[in-house]
Amino acid sequence: MATMESLIGLVNRIQRACTVLGDHGGEGLSLWEALPTVAVVGGQSSGKSSVLESVVGRDFLPRGSGIVTRRPLVLQLHKTDRGQTEYAEFLHAPKRKLTDFAAVRKEIADETDRITGKSKQISNIPIHLSVYSPNVVNLTLIDLPGLTKVAVEGQPDTIVEDIENMVRSYVEKPNCIILAISPANQDIATSDAIKLAREVDPSGDRTFGVVTKLDLMDKGTNALDVLEGRSYRLQHPWVGIVNRSQADINRNVDMIAARRKEREYFETSPEYGHLASKMGSEYLAKLLSQHLELVIRQRIPSIIALINKTIDELNAELDRIGRPIAVDSGAQLYTILELCRAFDRVFKEHLD
Ligand code: GDP
Ligand code: NA
Ligand code: MG
Repeated sequence: MATMESLIGLVNRIQRACTVLGDHGGEGLSLWEALPTVAVVGGQSSGKSSVLESVVGRDFLPRGSGIVTRRPLVLQLHKTDRGQTEYAEFLHAPKRKLTDFAAVRKEIADETDRITGKSKQISNIPIHLSVYSPNVVNLTLIDLPGLTKVAVEGQPDTIVEDIENMVRSYVEKPNCIILAISPANQDIATSDAIKLAREVDPSGDRTFGVVTKLDLMDKGTNALDVLEGRSYRLQHPWVGIVNRSQADINRNVDMIAARRKEREYFETSPEYGHLASKMGSEYLAKLLSQHLELVIRQRIPSIIALINKTIDELNAELDRIGRPIAVDSGAQLYTILELCRAFDRVFKEHLD
């Protein structure tokens, strides 16, 4: 019997094939928009990129103080069979399989500069990256530039609004699951993440509240009011996180050590010990994949309808351009068609 995982995997591959064809969910209801994505939202340096890395379980995103993330990064995770070599591939450099994740980080930074220059400018043209690994869950994640309050030297005055509009364009989509990141060393009442999440998702159905930097709170204070939902109520439980500090990053502390340190932090914490099993990056990753599975289950009927429509459209398109087709896009249409048919098949097995 087909598993939910293989179903999500197929959905993910269809999404990627659509991306290659240039369907990013621009017009009308596309297949892209029928499928869930996860985006991180929050103030600059709140820990967005760090949280995404933890969810993935690999080090590959540029992080640091100031505005580091300056273009949206659409990251598709594809779960592969056990024992397969992990690799990453950029849409702008297809067929180049990167196995060195430090090189992936460098390419994200270089590709950002290619469009924005080495300035502090931002661009809303996304970078698309796929990671193939036996150690990930099938998921599309989007890293976004941080919300700011003021423009800094070298940035246009409109940057505050430009970033907010860019971030909103992602998180307002009903298929977007929002990771709203708030640092614990700032008042939750002033959280840019919560403000925007509340605006686009008033019911809180698709918002996960994440509190970072618990280790950086002033002595004698704690985030229990937030974590236990008394400060601001969301449908989903709040998750507290301890990411690597800048000093950890400088010392190249790896992901495994960081996770161990995070786990120890919660298990030995006098304030958060009683919540330890519901805190941390690994728990967040688990919560997210469970939610994703639920959302996909609910969406299956509309996904099936869309896939059938897509199959019809693709067949019509292939008839129009005539077969056989030499051009790349023809091959891509075939790929999507094949994937859609596979989805249909797997879905039917899933019902049995
Ligand atoms: P982004 O700008 O929101 O993407 O944030 P980054 O992930 O780039 O992190 C910004 C800075 O904050 C980096 O220097 C991180 O090391 C640091 N940082 C992020 N989360 C934590 C945390 O939980 N604890 C500590 N001590 N530092 C953190
Ligand atoms: Na930053
Ligand atoms: Mg970032």
